[in-house]
Amino acid sequence: MADQHNHEHDHDHEHEHEEPQPTEVIGEVPDLANATARPITVVGNPVLHRECQDVTAFDAELSALIDDMFSSMYAAEGVGLAANQVGVDLKVFVYDCPDDEGVRHIGHVVNPVLEEPPVGRRRVLDDGQEGCLSVPTAYAELPRPDYAAVTGQDKDGNPIRVEGTGFFARCLQHETDHLYGFLYIDKLSKRDRKAALKQMAEGTPRYATVPND
Ligand code: NI
Repeated sequence: MADQHNHEHDHDHEHEHEEPQPTEVIGEVPDLANATARPITVVGNPVLHRECQDVTAFDAELSALIDDMFSSMYAAEGVGLAANQVGVDLKVFVYDCPDDEGVRHIGHVVNPVLEEPPVGRRRVLDDGQEGCLSVPTAYAELPRPDYAAVTGQDKDGNPIRVEGTGFFARCLQHETDHLYGFLYIDKLSKRDRKAALKQMAEGTPRYATVPND
């Protein structure tokens, strides 16, 4: 997912209007000394449009992949990244993403499954802007539930559950969707999808991408 959290702050606002930096951090930035940023696949690349394989080997190779994914995400200034966005056909995503309550979340999920919304919880839609590193330079308004929880495993195969609100809830849904072959633009109206693809065609990404054939 591309960072479009503080869209209004892209403009030249005065300093006092800036949101405070998150004060609480859940998770930690991995040691990326041996990691390599990889180029990002873009819409049209088949690896983005089909369900990825389940991870079955929790080994050093998986660990190295996760580090490379963090490195790639930071290089592209994203807040989330799925393995198929670096061309790897495996169900794993990484994130370093703020929520709407001042908490910065950092981590990874292997074999994620989005939980059904809790019974009795009122479904509140967050209508924010969304972007994706695989649809470079495009953004669109996309309502999403403002709460999400994902179950899966960590890199050692231990069961984990990650939940979030606001922008981080959006991220969890967006990244899980990737691993099942869906981009956020697949959830837009035909017209909005077309507009997003036009923005992409007219823009130039600030990071390395994998050319489509
Ligand atoms: Ni994305």
